[in-house]
Amino acid sequence: MELKNKVALITGSSRGIGAATAKAFLKAGCRVILNGRHELTDEQKKELESIGGQYVYLQGDMAKPAEIKQLAKQAWDQFGQVDILVNNAGINRDKLFIGMKQEDFDDVIAVNLRGPFLLTELILKKMYKKRQGSIINLASVVGMHGNAGQANYAASKAGLIGLTKTVAREGALRGIRCNAIAPGMIDSEMTVKLSDKVKKQISGQIPLRRFGKPEKVAQTAIFLAQNDYITGQVIVVDGGMTI
Ligand SMILES: NC(=O)c1ccc[n+]([C@@H]2O[C@H](COP(=O)([O-])OP(=O)(O)OC[C@H]3O[C@@H](n4cnc5c(N)ncnc54)[C@H](OP(=O)(O)O)[C@@H]3O)[C@@H](O)[C@H]2O)c1
Repeated sequence: MELKNKVALITGSSRGIGAATAKAFLKAGCRVILNGRHELTDEQKKELESIGGQYVYLQGDMAKPAEIKQLAKQAWDQFGQVDILVNNAGINRDKLFIGMKQEDFDDVIAVNLRGPFLLTELILKKMYKKRQGSIINLASVVGMHGNAGQANYAASKAGLIGLTKTVAREGALRGIRCNAIAPGMIDSEMTVKLSDKVKKQISGQIPLRRFGKPEKVAQTAIFLAQNDYITGQVIVVDGGMTI
């Protein structure tokens, strides 16, 4: 897909992987709709403006169905189309399985899996009419391999992979592609909480011996949006962690 003048909606794009992805789509000539729960800071706005191109930031909580509905409507009203949807917003509430409360499970599923389900449903209907669209879901290697302390997160990401493959099968004949990206350890606020000792230990288990940068995930999203012969795939971006 040629990206120039296309419209890309990226959830959870105020920082981290989502922000890097939004910037990459802006640089590629797309009109970009960013989203997050909080307002952008002046510094974040300046950075986006320095890239040039058109962007709009829409506040909305992906855990709240009414706000997802509003986000989809505002996004459509803004540019009259959405060609690329990146379901990126995600949270974790890590705890060993035995100590995990139902609310830890429900909160993570609501943002990481139910949110993409609801937003995709709303956007997909419109994409079907245009018979064109690319959906990219941010999964995780944890959704493929599991991880101690992350039963809720792993279940949400495994579910997202199942959703991805199903939307890909159903959408293919209507011109819609759907893929997932499964990052390993990426430098962002999600991983900044880890102590230096734990980070060093994890890096030692990654063949490339380092965490990845958000821009490497963004680069993969651009590739998936552009390449119109790839659908239903999970592209791993993990420095070889899961070889
Ligand atoms: N970092 C990693 O190592 C890694 C690895 C594998 C997969 N991933 C996945 O990649 C995605 C991005 O992760 P990240 O590391 O960039 O995370 P992050 O730095 O914590 O950023 C999360 C982004 O999502 C937004 N967000 C959080 N909850 C939201 C909600 N309920 N509704 C709307 N927006 C929300 C945040 O903005 P507000 O706070 O303003 O809402 C922020 O912009 C997630 O799906 C994550 O699971 C990350």
